[in-house]
Amino acid sequence: MVETASSGPSAGTPAVEVAADPDGERLDAVVNLCKRRGFVFQSAEIYGGFRSTYDYGPVGVLMLRNVKEAWWRSVVQMRPDVVGIDAAILSPPAVWEASGHLESFTDPLVECRVCGHRYREDQLEDPERCPNCGATGSFSEPRQFNLMFRTHAGPVVETGAEVYLRPETAQGMFVNFANVQRACRLRPPFGIAQIGKSFRNEITPGNFIFRTREFEQMELEFFVPPDEASRWYEYWCAERLGWYVDLGIPPHLLRLREHGPDERSHYSNATSDVEFRYPWGWGELEGVANRTDYDLRRHAEHSGQTLEYSDPASGERYVPHVIEPAAGATRALMAFLLAAYDSEEVRGETRTVLRLHHRLAPYQVAVLPLSRKEHLVARAREILGRLTPHWMVDFDVTQSIGRRYRRQDELGTPYCVTVDFETLQDEAVTVRDRDSMAQDRLAIADLVGYLHERLAR
Ligand code: GAP
Repeated sequence: MVETASSGPSAGTPAVEVAADPDGERLDAVVNLCKRRGFVFQSAEIYGGFRSTYDYGPVGVLMLRNVKEAWWRSVVQMRPDVVGIDAAILSPPAVWEASGHLESFTDPLVECRVCGHRYREDQLEDPERCPNCGATGSFSEPRQFNLMFRTHAGPVVETGAEVYLRPETAQGMFVNFANVQRACRLRPPFGIAQIGKSFRNEITPGNFIFRTREFEQMELEFFVPPDEASRWYEYWCAERLGWYVDLGIPPHLLRLREHGPDERSHYSNATSDVEFRYPWGWGELEGVANRTDYDLRRHAEHSGQTLEYSDPASGERYVPHVIEPAAGATRALMAFLLAAYDSEEVRGETRTVLRLHHRLAPYQVAVLPLSRKEHLVARAREILGRLTPHWMVDFDVTQSIGRRYRRQDELGTPYCVTVDFETLQDEAVTVRDRDSMAQDRLAIADLVGYLHERLAR
């Protein structure tokens, strides 16, 4: 599969790039649903769209927060051996000089001499033929193109004021290694985790939010004694694969794939990708790398600081090795949506439903008063007030109840609470389950407990 090349803003081009693929209907359906229901919008759409850049709408932002929260919970909250940080996005060239990114964070770029389209050479299906104009033998010699965005800090545009937008969050953990280790008195094995935006001037962004120039990462740098590195590498490969399964991606859509030596990044001596079966084929969802002591050694050399662990009891000193599970929050959101998307026939009509894990769904509950009658809506709002301290709850009074159920199905809301005229007499509501569509009638007084049982974290 080849993604269409693009560079920068381009009014008049298709807003969303989706390559032809064997299961394109699913991708198209998810992209359309994302716009229709407010998950993801093309950035600057009213100006023709800023290619490969996306904005997360009212429900997309909820789901993205849930993806990040589920990661943080699993990697930081549930582990006594991991702490978090939130480092700066702008950083001086010294960091990227030391990390090797100034020299090695490049992709091979070729340009078609006939139509001017640019491609990543390693992503061309046929290295002789331009996928845009069909010309053969028209490609220029490949040149290495650095993917980092560069800008200037301060009012004067000069070499000394150059700064970079980080292309990975990882370096924030390495440059803060000594600060964090001392502040929290940590002893390897321990990890430093971070969630945040990263930026890459990708030559061929595309396939919706799969590869964009601005995206969010969730990265863990796990510092271990050198002789434990292989064991922890295996451990994190299994752990990270399991995380996606626990959050509802069927195992047959996931696999671990070990990189060959020529595929690995400049810092890695072993890497496995957690791959997802996208509509266009298997592709990276997350990378787990053994970064050895590469980063800490390089930063120690370049900064002149000591970046090692010294055991107070034994006096032993060593530079820890690093195992790095590096995930994309926005890419994970896309995989969760693709895996959850389903449509089925119900009483002669097509029902579209996102079978999202309740922890990831934008709303866990929706409260739906059966009619717009003032006293019914007031009662429903009172019930809403009981639920909002516990969950994200949608409230919808528009359209027929059937349409409102369908809308909540498309948002992936696990439970709908319907408030009807009987509620005013019997103090009971109807709860509808998204997946089975089964309905339970229960007392309002029992509602929070009922939902807590089913929406247990
Ligand atoms: N620190 C290591 C690192 O950044 P990576 O494999 O380049 O490794 C990690 O990136 C993850 O970040 C990828 O598996 C993917 O989920 C996400 N990612 C990388 N580039 C991306 C892009 N251009 N758009 C969206 N997500 C991206």
